[in-house]
Amino acid sequence: MFAAALLFFAGLSAGGSTPIPPSKDPWYAAPMRFESASPGDVFKVRRAPGNLTAMYNSSAVYNILFRTTDSLYQPSWAVTTLYLPPGDPSRPAPHSAAPFLTWLHPYDSNYIDASPSFLFHQPTVPFVQDLPAALARGWWVSVPDYEGPKASFTAGVTSGHAVLDSVRAVQAAGLGINKRNPAALWGYSGGGLAAEWAAELHAGYAPELNLAGVAIGSPVVNVSNVLYNVNRKPLAGLIPPSLLGLTSQYPDAEKYLVSRLKPETKAAFLAARTQSWTESIQAFSGQDIGAYFVGGLADVFAPEMRLVWGRETYMGHHGVPWMPVYVYQAVHDEIATIDYTAALVENFCRVGSNVVFQKNTAGGHLEELAAGAPGAVRWLTSIFDGTYEQKYLSIGCSIFET
Ligand SMILES: *[C@@H]1O[C@H](CO)[C@@H](O)[C@H](O)[C@H]1NC(C)=O
Ligand SMILES: *[C@@H]1O[C@H](CO)[C@@H](O)[C@H](O)[C@H]1NC(C)=O
Ligand SMILES: *[C@@H]1O[C@H](CO)[C@@H](O)[C@H](O)[C@H]1NC(C)=O
Repeated sequence: MFAAALLFFAGLSAGGSTPIPPSKDPWYAAPMRFESASPGDVFKVRRAPGNLTAMYNSSAVYNILFRTTDSLYQPSWAVTTLYLPPGDPSRPAPHSAAPFLTWLHPYDSNYIDASPSFLFHQPTVPFVQDLPAALARGWWVSVPDYEGPKASFTAGVTSGHAVLDSVRAVQAAGLGINKRNPAALWGYSGGGLAAEWAAELHAGYAPELNLAGVAIGSPVVNVSNVLYNVNRKPLAGLIPPSLLGLTSQYPDAEKYLVSRLKPETKAAFLAARTQSWTESIQAFSGQDIGAYFVGGLADVFAPEMRLVWGRETYMGHHGVPWMPVYVYQAVHDEIATIDYTAALVENFCRVGSNVVFQKNTAGGHLEELAAGAPGAVRWLTSIFDGTYEQKYLSIGCSIFET
């Protein structure tokens, strides 16, 4: 383990203090020479500040800062928050094989202070109901800030790396989870994006990680598809944080994008840099985001942007899942067109991945978050208790429609 980790372990703080936003909290800084550490190495552990144990009925909550790798394959860092289920998980024996879920919250924002490790201190957080439900089942739940230190919303490579390294970090942090605990990932929508990228990058980036399964709800298989689907609609506010998140690691593309903003509405567009999901959805609701650009929506697909779109936004080109995968989505998803998901699943199946694809003929994207959750929990339960393997692993791909 990286030498600095010992140093920071010694400084494990007692928690209970007032949460400070990541942009101002010195705890959110990688140590000197962090670049030489290995992906997943733990730099800092602390009791999470504030009142999360009461808000999410858990017995303890920790923040872990760890080494990861950004979209350009340069050393970076990220934070995860580990929630211990209610009860008394301090006694190691009964919990030595407790299920370990990495749950990807769709925070969908280009604002570092809207990352789950801080956002969850707010009294109401959208799309968070699966976290207390998982804890109530006795699962240990890690919630990574997978967009990383630049809040690179919709950047697939960074998201996947941060998720995988968060699993490594939790296993290494000495808080009660180790490599013997069955580990699975679960995310919906923006969280499904992170889950899928972790699944497809796993074999190339973290092949030693034993992931028992990955549940992927309504993934953003093709970000530009979602851009066209939501523009001028209630969720048009997904677009500015996505464009800013995508270019956050590509200075040339970012400079180009900003240079194409019309001066009179530039500030309104760039305000997305300090907006949570809720705030940008309100600010841009129903708007034509193309109207912010001198050349309209064509500007965001200009040659200067091609590298970013190509590297970060198309699933299924960076690897195939080695672990069992559960994909679920509404057939009438109006935000992420299901055809792209179906094509992704078909590609995975053609090369031998193990996929269950559950389609739902009722409801749309937002409804499926709740409607699809029981199926995902059933699948994850079977992954954790080992019954999935006996039933499905030999079958290969299964596609269901209800
Ligand atoms: C902590 O959270 C609980 C449950 O949400 C709430 O009842 C209580 O008022 C909170 N306490 C503080 C100090 O915020
Ligand atoms: C928290 O979880 C425990 C164990 O499942 C349960 O007994 C208790 O009622 C829960 N507390 C709240 C406030 O929901
Ligand atoms: C992504 O979606 C856009 C818009 O629907 C489409 O034009 C493009 O061909 C898609 N790209 C891929 C790689 O599927």
